[in-house]
Amino acid sequence: MLVVNNPAALREQIGQWRRESRAIAFVPTMGNLHQGHLTLVDEARSHGEKVVVSIFVNPLQFDKAEDLANYPRTLEQDCAALEAAGVDLVFTPTPELMYPHGLASQTFVEVPGLSGLLEGALRPGHFRGVSTVVTKLFNIVQPDVACFGKKDYQQLAVLRGMVADLNMPIDIVPVDTGRAADGLALSSRNGYLSAEERAEAPRLYRQLSLIRDALQAGSNDYAGLEAVAHADLTAHGWQVDYVEIRAADTLEIAHAGERHIVILAAARLGKTRLIDNIDVMR
Ligand code: PAF
Repeated sequence: MLVVNNPAALREQIGQWRRESRAIAFVPTMGNLHQGHLTLVDEARSHGEKVVVSIFVNPLQFDKAEDLANYPRTLEQDCAALEAAGVDLVFTPTPELMYPHGLASQTFVEVPGLSGLLEGALRPGHFRGVSTVVTKLFNIVQPDVACFGKKDYQQLAVLRGMVADLNMPIDIVPVDTGRAADGLALSSRNGYLSAEERAEAPRLYRQLSLIRDALQAGSNDYAGLEAVAHADLTAHGWQVDYVEIRAADTLEIAHAGERHIVILAAARLGKTRLIDNIDVMR
């Protein structure tokens, strides 16, 4: 497995693979990898002859300096896991290589509308940072296919919008959320939970599942369903940012009878903020 941190060196390798007509599948990550990331790698393998993974903790998408500083960096273990998973190349640039002129003068990419809803409303600038870094990574790696987890449902929607709007010749492949046996979505953040919080954490998915069941049974009482989930989480010590029933494509408020729906939630358990979602076709 090649490990490359310089964009110019990476492009040289990619150029060689392109001349050999190899399809390139790409998985962008911020490292601290878990089974969910390895599922993305497996999916990538089925779409490309060469699998490239990037590990880059992107400063542009953090709204709090403290979160950026505390983000777990586990490069050695990550590379070992990726090598075992049969990845061909890991791209590990530094912030200086990605943003040589500093963050303040960086050209950015922003998907209007979608980027300002839900997570975007609570974390201003977050999706601008994500779409900018993913554009840069796409330009450097030039993949045919890129895999993203459905756990970050809004990120996936923003990036699909970006690729369509900017005519990027890249297939975006959504990958189902990996879950622990009790339903908790796999996330690097689960590592921050105490034993007690870990036991409580699956409640988030259980509440989303109850809403899914009600929607599938024909309920259109979105506000009522959201309120019940919100109250149950709050009663069990969660600080809820949102539980929202939205149209799956636009993330706008779902209208009565909406067929493709996504239920999204973000809530804090102690110091750990968890997000999850379920999409429902009815
Ligand atoms: O989902 C992530 O890990 C990040 O937002 C991404 C897509 C790698 C961009 O930094």
